[in-house]
Amino acid sequence: MFSASQGRSWNVHRLPSAEGRIFLVTGGNAGIGYFVAEQLAATGAVVILGSRDRAKADAAMASIRSRVSGAHVRHLQLDLADLSSLKTAVDRLDIEHLDAAVYNAGVALDDPPRRETEGGHELMFGTNHLGHFVLTQWLAPLLSAAPAGRIVTVGSFAARSERLDLGDLQSTHDYRPKRTYGRSKLAQMCFGFELDCRLRAVGSTVLSVVAHPGGALDSLTPSRPPVCVTSSGERLRASPAGLLVQGKDAGAWPIVRAVLDSEVQGGQLWGPRVFGLRGAPRREPVPSHMTEPAAAARLWAASSELVGTDPHLGFR
Ligand SMILES: NC(=O)c1ccc[n+]([C@@H]2O[C@H](COP(=O)([O-])OP(=O)(O)OC[C@H]3O[C@@H](n4cnc5c(N)ncnc54)[C@H](OP(=O)(O)O)[C@@H]3O)[C@@H](O)[C@H]2O)c1
Repeated sequence: MFSASQGRSWNVHRLPSAEGRIFLVTGGNAGIGYFVAEQLAATGAVVILGSRDRAKADAAMASIRSRVSGAHVRHLQLDLADLSSLKTAVDRLDIEHLDAAVYNAGVALDDPPRRETEGGHELMFGTNHLGHFVLTQWLAPLLSAAPAGRIVTVGSFAARSERLDLGDLQSTHDYRPKRTYGRSKLAQMCFGFELDCRLRAVGSTVLSVVAHPGGALDSLTPSRPPVCVTSSGERLRASPAGLLVQGKDAGAWPIVRAVLDSEVQGGQLWGPRVFGLRGAPRREPVPSHMTEPAAAARLWAASSELVGTDPHLGFR
């Protein structure tokens, strides 16, 4: 079973048509999310860029339109750090169904001090995990209305070596930014796998898949002015790193495959082929600490309690 979709060829430069389908990419205005949106737009789908910054979204949409003739791109005002705004944001989508939601937006802080959202949640856990957790509840009816809706959660290799501290999910007692970031990504990945179990249990047509970009550097990324600009000098200096990691355009590949490949199944993990850091997308084994049932159930219950969502997140 594990090798089934591994052997099948998938050409990241020749994607299947997705005309008539609708995809939402959170953080589609920059970085990996921009390239996910650009690559999905080339399939003929309608791509909605969830972005908190109108001007950045306009620049990203202009860049996509200049590269993909006839691209169908739209902006949705979306601030994942403002949980109370998410229902209104989804109401504004004005669509009958959603074929896939890509949970890409993320914040990574390098230095203290510990920061909080306006709602009082630690910023990385609050945005990366709780923001997408709450968003799921409001997107559930639209995803369920699609013939085969998908949620693709963007995880990270940083989550591999982390373990959740269920007694201190928001790093209130012990804040180390890199660890808190890694744990927020772990929480997202645990959520993605647990969500699929719950969707299967209620017979939903919606799948939940987890994908990660490997290591993706701006300095190895092709320019898309004004969205991202890399000088030839920067690219040259970064080229040794290219032996190990890749640009954000390539970081988008496993995520795009998780959205489009009809053979991808719920509960799977997708990442880059070479050491899980760069290269073409392939299916990866799921680390056991990401699917530990008791921890997943406790994380779900704690998240639900923190944000006051329906415990079923709208999927019944
Ligand atoms: N780059 C890597 O090597 C790497 C490795 C593993 C995993 N990842 C994951 O891949 C995803 C994208 O990473 P990246 O490197 O492309 O990051 P990035 O260039 O910093 O882009 C992050 C995106 O998230 C958006 N965002 C941040 N806070 C938001 C909020 N409150 N509401 C809505 N959008 C928000 C940003 O919007 P603004 O432009 O408005 O800030 C931006 O569009 C993240 O989930 C990250 O954890 C990245």
